[in-house]
Amino acid sequence: MASELPAELKAAIERRIEGMSRSDAARRSRSISDTYRSGGNSLSIKSDEDALAYALVRMPATYAAIGACLGAIAEARPEFAPATLLDVGAGPGTATWAANHSFPSLGEFALIDSNDSLRALALELAKASSSLGAASYVKGDAATLLATSQPADLVVASYVAGELGDTARANLADAMWSKTNDTLLIVEPGTPSGYARIVDLRAHLIAKGAHVVAPCPHDKACPLEDPDWCHFSQRLARSRAHKQIKGADVPFEDEKFSYVALSRAPIPERPSRVLAQPKISKVAVKMKVCTTGGVETKTVPHRDKRNYSILRKLNWGDAIPQKFLPAE
Ligand SMILES: C[S@@+](CC[C@H](N)C(=O)[O-])C[C@H]1O[C@@H](n2cnc3c(N)ncnc32)[C@H](O)[C@@H]1O
Repeated sequence: MASELPAELKAAIERRIEGMSRSDAARRSRSISDTYRSGGNSLSIKSDEDALAYALVRMPATYAAIGACLGAIAEARPEFAPATLLDVGAGPGTATWAANHSFPSLGEFALIDSNDSLRALALELAKASSSLGAASYVKGDAATLLATSQPADLVVASYVAGELGDTARANLADAMWSKTNDTLLIVEPGTPSGYARIVDLRAHLIAKGAHVVAPCPHDKACPLEDPDWCHFSQRLARSRAHKQIKGADVPFEDEKFSYVALSRAPIPERPSRVLAQPKISKVAVKMKVCTTGGVETKTVPHRDKRNYSILRKLNWGDAIPQKFLPAE
């Protein structure tokens, strides 16, 4: 299971939903989801109650996805210790909470968003944290505000790119990159269109000198071909309130996401990446892997005891040091 929301954040959300009718929250979250599904955006979040319904339903899953991406950055660069964070299109502050958890080195948090209700909720929730209480949260258009923002060691835009048209998205990417001292993380839903945005932004920023930290083992064009798309998955437990609001029976949900983390300095040795859940049998481990040479299916037989025992523990999205992969 993926990492859960920090206890103090969960408790702060639970305090906020006390007295809120579950059917009202369910109606609001359905209406927000329907808007997203039909190509709309977070402009449908118009009140404090809408913002709370959004946070209740989406924050656990987006937190898990962002946490997995930050984990991949930390794994690729164990020495990375950002001091400052810029959370662009921060909404309820999900990426800020996730980054605070993943990188204890962070001491300054700046958030930007155009939505008043999500900003108010984020500031309320941040009071529950011993480190986020002093975070600054500016309201307005991200690309405009970034022009006068302080640069940060880590810049994150989670689930934002899909809210913008092509030109605005490219402009935002440029504005974010210009404020990135070290690493920029962009996360999108793990749908073909979310992946398409990630691939476009990846190419756009590599052309400006960025280097991929994760998930790719190289800076070349993505080797996946339509209808395939690069995405990952995090399984997380559903709370009782989440099950009630979503009308769900299963006690977990799977959050699919696509992402790219880019840094200013090249990464000396990037691992290959598992692109789907490996198939494990007593005979062999078989996995789809993105390598420096492209996408390959690797089979490690049981008789290769050392590598078999290492690779059988791997999951979709995990990094694999090159030395554990057989040459085909
Ligand atoms: C789907 S929410 C994601 C929120 C948050 N990043 C998360 O991962 O939970 C998208 C957010 O992007 C914000 N947003 C969209 N376009 C924006 C813009 N041009 N400037 C600032 N914020 C924007 C919305 O207001 C909303 O809060």
